[in-house]
Amino acid sequence: MAIKEKGGQKNSASTAPAGAKSAASKIAPAKGKLGVMVVGLGAVATTMIAGVEAVRRGLAKPYGSLTQMGTIRLGKRTDNKSPLIKDFIPLADLNDIVFTGWDIFEDNVYEAAAHAEVIRKETLDQLRPYLETIKPMPAVFDRYYVKRLNGTHVKKGMNKLDLANQVVTDIQEFKKTVDRVVMIWCGSTEIFLEPTAVHQTIESFEKGLEKSDLGIAPSQIYAYAALKEGVPFANGAPNLTVDIPALVELSKKNSAPICGKDFKTGQTFMKTVLAPAFKARMLGVKGWFSTNILGNRDGEVLDEPQSFKTKEESKLGSLEYIFQPELYPDLYKDIYHKIRINYYPPRGDEKEAWDNIDIFGWLGYPMQLKVNFLCRDSILAAPIALDLVLFLDLAKRTPELKSIGIQEWLSFYLKSPQTAPGLYPEHDLFIQSMKLKNTLRHIMGADLVTHLGLDYYD
Ligand SMILES: NC(=O)c1ccc[n+]([C@@H]2O[C@H](COP(=O)([O-])OP(=O)(O)OC[C@H]3O[C@@H](n4cnc5c(N)ncnc54)[C@H](O)[C@@H]3O)[C@@H](O)[C@H]2O)c1
Repeated sequence: MAIKEKGGQKNSASTAPAGAKSAASKIAPAKGKLGVMVVGLGAVATTMIAGVEAVRRGLAKPYGSLTQMGTIRLGKRTDNKSPLIKDFIPLADLNDIVFTGWDIFEDNVYEAAAHAEVIRKETLDQLRPYLETIKPMPAVFDRYYVKRLNGTHVKKGMNKLDLANQVVTDIQEFKKTVDRVVMIWCGSTEIFLEPTAVHQTIESFEKGLEKSDLGIAPSQIYAYAALKEGVPFANGAPNLTVDIPALVELSKKNSAPICGKDFKTGQTFMKTVLAPAFKARMLGVKGWFSTNILGNRDGEVLDEPQSFKTKEESKLGSLEYIFQPELYPDLYKDIYHKIRINYYPPRGDEKEAWDNIDIFGWLGYPMQLKVNFLCRDSILAAPIALDLVLFLDLAKRTPELKSIGIQEWLSFYLKSPQTAPGLYPEHDLFIQSMKLKNTLRHIMGADLVTHLGLDYYD
């Protein structure tokens, strides 16, 4: 069938009406250096930093990064207009990124990357002089929150407020050398914490810092310092961190965007692809058993029950929200969902994940699906960390986004999306992807793509 064009419809940024165009022009340009402060220079962080440098030198391509390789369709399918995302929106250029960070160990990024054994030695050696220049600042750390680690490169302070102020000073010093700053937590998973009274308002949180309240974890001290300084903050781990009213309030107050938590990389990435497919076809699910073997330092930390609990909670959420058992009790009411992470040193960062999914179809006949994902944890996480940094910097420069606090459109990257109170989180990867791209179209004054498409058949 011939596809008919509808005339006169304004569909893209370049053909958008005058009012829409001015929306895009209000986004501040990505001029100058973007400083990226990374908390925790372990496997993910060093894979991101070494990867960005490898891409800058033309040694490799940024596979896995939507900001670097993705395109965005503008207008009708017949317009054939799909620029690269980085050409459509004003994103920071990789050449303008400057990295710094903190860790509880003194290793520079070359040494930490070599220890993580993710990037091949020959590549690391090519990058060595650059990577050796990035040395961690002393960290805010307390073994109470990450029991399996014992670092010595740590700050000392009278109380948690003093430690937060020391991080603020680190940020202020770094700000003198760059034009804009974003912070990302790539540190270890902390023990499971639930919000308490201390987390409710900025005032109660600040009092809690002064009294060194046990409910305030190191990740929250960094996040508080970032938000206090108007610096956007992303969280790659499942820690509670900014998922509390006090820090959401501070994020809005100081125009420092935040998003959800825990990079959506391996098993949960697959879950949020498969579960929407079962639901779209009205196939029922009886059980979903997920297990992993993992041998890196993250695996070692997650071997400790209280850190595992934090991860488990983050991983469990997605199915419940996608399947909506309250809407589809016949299909999804009593799913047996089990998640295991086993520390198995021989595999290092090369995680292996198995899923056994018991599904049922027409007339209740049972079927099974097995997924065996032989992935590389940090290879999947590094481009996500990079994209989050670049998009949070964009959000900070976008008048419409910078003071709304939670950037729900970044849920695409995260196992635990963060939302406004009362909203259920959207976990379906394809809805998340559409939401992200439509947000980009929206802030650029381009028409949203709804995929309705009836006008092709007029
Ligand atoms: N790789 C993935 O696919 C993936 C996916 C989702 C989430 N994550 C999370 O990302 C985080 C990083 O993963 P990784 O594989 O790089 O782990 P890693 O153990 O290699 O690195 C974590 C680093 O953080 C440091 N650290 C711990 N507490 C700190 C603190 N308070 N201040 C500064 N540094 C601190 C550790 O010394 C270590 O170098 C983990 O929490 C992990 O659960 C990873």
